[in-house]
Amino acid sequence: MSHQNQQVQRTTVRDILLKKGQDPIVCLTAYTTPVARAIDDHCDLVLVGDSLGMVLYGMESTVSVSLDMMLNHGRAVSKATKKALVVIDMPFGTYQESSTQAFRNAAHVMKETGASAVKLEGGVEMAETVAFLTSRGIPVLGHIGLQPQSVHAVGGYKVMGRDAGERRKILADAAAVVKAGAFGVVLECIDPDLADQITDQVSVPTIGIGASGGCDGQILVTEDMADLSGAATPKFVKRYASLYDPLRQAVAAYADDVRMRRFPGESHTYKRRARPTTIKMMK
Ligand code: KIV
Repeated sequence: MSHQNQQVQRTTVRDILLKKGQDPIVCLTAYTTPVARAIDDHCDLVLVGDSLGMVLYGMESTVSVSLDMMLNHGRAVSKATKKALVVIDMPFGTYQESSTQAFRNAAHVMKETGASAVKLEGGVEMAETVAFLTSRGIPVLGHIGLQPQSVHAVGGYKVMGRDAGERRKILADAAAVVKAGAFGVVLECIDPDLADQITDQVSVPTIGIGASGGCDGQILVTEDMADLSGAATPKFVKRYASLYDPLRQAVAAYADDVRMRRFPGESHTYKRRARPTTIKMMK
C-alpha cells in the first residue's frame, strides 16, 4: 500500500451535504491543539467558535472577540486535525458592514488558518452577504435562531420561535441563507417543533444546539460537554465527563507535594553526577 493511500481524507463540505437525511452529523467546538487532537477522530465537523471569548478568555459575551483571536485559534485547530471539516466563526463586526468587508475578512481567515469554511450569524439580512461569499468560493455555514453576537439587541439569551411572529421570521431566515448557498445551518436555541419543520423543509443539513434531536446534526461546546471549565451549563448540554474536578484534585496534590518537598523526587530529577562540581558564585 502506498504512503498516500494511508493518509486520512479530510471531510469536505460535499461530504457534509451528502449526510442530509442520512447519517447524523457529529460536531463539536475546539479552540486549542489538545482539544482538537482529542476530538478529531470522532467528529465530522470541528467549529472554532467565537464562544472562545467566553469559554477561554472570560468575556461577558462573544461581542468583543477579535479577528486575530479567531486566526490564532483557527491555525492551531487546523494544524491539529486531519479528519474533521474545520469551520471558523467570523467574529462580530468583521462581516456585517458589507459583502466586500465579509469577503475580505473571510478570505483572510481561510488563507491564514487553512480551514475549509466560515460560519456567520444572521438570516434574511445576511443573505446577500452569504450569496456573495458562496458564489466566490467561500463555503458558509449559516447560524440562525439565537444569535449570541446580537445578545445586546435581543436583550438576552432565550429560546427562540415560541410565538407566531418569531416562528415566521426564523423560517424566512432558514430559507434565505439556504437559497444564498449556505452548505448547512446551525439552529441555536429554537423551539424543537420549529427546528424539525426547518429540517424537513431545507435541502441542506441543520445542526442543532438547544434545538431538536431531529436535526441532521448536533453541536456542543466541548468544554461544556466534558465539564472542562467548571462553569454552570444550560439545560441542553449533556455532561459526558467531569474533567474540572480531577484537574483541581491534581493541582491540589501537586501543591501538597511541592510544599512537603516530595516533588520532584529522584525519578523526576536528572541523574546526579558521581562527583558533583561546585561552582563558586560571584559575590
Ligand atoms: O461559537 C460557538 O461555539 C457556536 C456554537 C455554539 C454553535 O457558535
